[in-house]
Amino acid sequence: MTMKKQIILTGVQATGTPHIGNYVGAMRPMVEFSKSNDTIAFIADLHALNDVRDPKAIKQSTINCAATYIALGLDLNRTMLFRQSDVPEVLQLSSLLMNVTPKGMMNRAHAYKAVTDKNEAEGKDKDVDVNMGLYTYPILMAADILIYNSTLVPVGADQKQHIEFARDIAGSFNSIYGNIFTVPEGYIKEAAGLLPGLDGRKMSKSYGNSIQLFAPESELKKRVMQIVTDSKLPAEPKDPDSSIIFQIYSQFATDSEISELRKRFTDGGMGYGDAKNLLFEKLNSTLAGPREKYLGLLANPEQVEDILKSGAAKARPLAQETLARVKRAMLG
Ligand code: TRP
Repeated sequence: MTMKKQIILTGVQATGTPHIGNYVGAMRPMVEFSKSNDTIAFIADLHALNDVRDPKAIKQSTINCAATYIALGLDLNRTMLFRQSDVPEVLQLSSLLMNVTPKGMMNRAHAYKAVTDKNEAEGKDKDVDVNMGLYTYPILMAADILIYNSTLVPVGADQKQHIEFARDIAGSFNSIYGNIFTVPEGYIKEAAGLLPGLDGRKMSKSYGNSIQLFAPESELKKRVMQIVTDSKLPAEPKDPDSSIIFQIYSQFATDSEISELRKRFTDGGMGYGDAKNLLFEKLNSTLAGPREKYLGLLANPEQVEDILKSGAAKARPLAQETLARVKRAMLG
């Protein structure tokens, strides 16, 4: 049996700065994969355009996201790290893929539907504030994945539908034009994808309930202290599985540390304040080293730019090769 070479790819959208949910969901697995695989990680600045109208903000966010990956120890010998727009072939592929993408599929896309549902609930025309960048977002994402012949795509649980769409688009293209695309698999850590935010809902930039990955120590502490708990007294036994503190801790601690905290919850005798302190210490000791490195990189953005440019120089020939193959298949 011949094994297809694994190509592990992920993108992070250039809006804002990463939070610990992004870290646990996609960035940490990617850093782990990069230690023993060929990996591709890019900063999706084109995907930010449907929403962000400030070029400076997109540029800064691109640097922040790239610096985050570098600071977390992404192995740059085995990884191409680059800016999406530095490989413009992806826009051509996206345009070509439109022709095999059913409009109805886009109508079902979660991000688009969230806007139209809200408009309808407010009695407005359903497409108010919807631009074609938002509507076709999943097609550009499919192009990102397919242009590098990716086999595995680590993402947070919120991106599951996008991966399904990329697979469907690849499948329908292949059924018309022959076996051109590799059909990728998603790598979705369900538990991690659902990392709760401070208020117990999914951690998300748009809910304002997130903890910035590289927040300064004092801010990190402040955010941890804001985690919502019930009103059980220190002496009372507590349910670890419904505790936001415990769930976040579980993503950072070792197995024995997790069972120890579980026992302290169920036994009673530990207040939520103490549990929060324990969580803060764990987050801070994990993130302090990378945070320092991150701040160093932000002070030298040209260094980050150089890394992105050399990543793009390696990625571009791969994209050109796929695009040429696709054009030949479609246009003769
Ligand atoms: N949509 C992804 C997000 O918001 C970012 C992204 C863009 C991506 N292109 C991708 C992720 C390709 C994986 C593969 O997080």
